[in-house]
Amino acid sequence: MRMYDIIMKKRNGGELTKEEIDFFIQDYTAGNIPDYQVSALMMAIYFQKMTEQETLALTMAMAKSGDMLDLSAIKGIKVDKHSTGGVGDKTSLALTPMVAACGIPVAKMSGRGLGHTGGTIDKLESFPGFTTGIPVSQFIENVNTVGISIMGQTADLAPADKKLYALRDVTATVDNMSLIASSIMSKKLAAGADAIVLDVKTGSGAFMKAEEDAFALAKEMVKIGNNAGRKTIAVVTDMDQPLGYAVGNALEVKEAIATLRGEGPADFTEICMTLGTQMLLAGEKAKTEDEARNMLSEAIASGKALDKLAEFVKAQGGNPDAVYDCELLPKASVIEAVAAPVSGYIQHIVCDEIGICSLILGGGRENKESVIDLSVGLVLEKKVGDYVKAGEPLAYIHGNDPEKIAVATKRFLDAYTFCEKPFEKKAFIKGIIL
Ligand code: URA
Repeated sequence: MRMYDIIMKKRNGGELTKEEIDFFIQDYTAGNIPDYQVSALMMAIYFQKMTEQETLALTMAMAKSGDMLDLSAIKGIKVDKHSTGGVGDKTSLALTPMVAACGIPVAKMSGRGLGHTGGTIDKLESFPGFTTGIPVSQFIENVNTVGISIMGQTADLAPADKKLYALRDVTATVDNMSLIASSIMSKKLAAGADAIVLDVKTGSGAFMKAEEDAFALAKEMVKIGNNAGRKTIAVVTDMDQPLGYAVGNALEVKEAIATLRGEGPADFTEICMTLGTQMLLAGEKAKTEDEARNMLSEAIASGKALDKLAEFVKAQGGNPDAVYDCELLPKASVIEAVAAPVSGYIQHIVCDEIGICSLILGGGRENKESVIDLSVGLVLEKKVGDYVKAGEPLAYIHGNDPEKIAVATKRFLDAYTFCEKPFEKKAFIKGIIL
């Protein structure tokens, strides 16, 4: 088999066979095919697209390109959760202790920030001492004893995706449905859970900006998961403005903790309840949606979910006192209000720009070597549909460098548009694909 022939076949609109896909994934992972040939193939796929069969074959080939985690030593139905990425998306921080408090074993692989989107691991490192660099044996033991463990993607898990993702990132071939679906699902399948609940974002802060594309991606991933024998459910949710009010690592941890105390923002609480309900149903801990919702509400009201977060943080080396006293989390030295330039209703927020503001303040990586500042970010005061008077704060910027604060403030203001008349807010949960 020759890579040249595979590129030409796809370039001309042909359908690749499983054997051809297995060949290029195996040989690329082994270092036998150069980046320039795989780049050409990615671009051909970008324009010619892939069929369902090809997407499934690519997913399975990438999932099997390294270790497939065996979680059979963990008792119960393991349910994983994955978001396609967004701004202020701190869902895993609150959701995993909520479902663990209801008896679902959570064995989760998470990532760091990517582009304008944040990552769960960076956020968790806001707890002083916390580490995700634990061996698989401890990961499994913690799930069995504590109920939750979160680790980073090991070098041996779906290595083909790791190489391909880095290549796509620099060749303008990220936003293709089949490539995103296979990238996410290969990691999820290799990570070993029995069931997978996906949070597929849509809007200006998501990779899939258009709602119909997000639904198509959700359907594609659900089909791949179910075909691979894992019960898979996708919830399509709004990412046309940041989730909750806080954007930035420690600030988001604080908001997740408030949510576990029952004092969280409405949209963020709702997403945790919706995804949690699907996780409890998939994990067979509840028979109906109402029962699942009641269990989750009880986990919050009783304080069990908050205590579960503290147990989990302690088991991975972090200071559990910070769960009960947020003063122990990293704090920025300067907090500055951003005043509304006009009076009116907030019509739109360019959501990925808010993620970039956090990045500018130091909350994300400019390159692979960047060390991030966990204390910085933004806390919105007003969101889409809210009325604001000129001069009132739209948000508070938390920073440590006046120059960066000035740049972020300008960019933040440019992301907001105002209108004179009130309007109906859009639905936040767009749909569930079972
Ligand atoms: N997240 C992933 O892991 N892969 C993609 O291709 C896009 C988002």
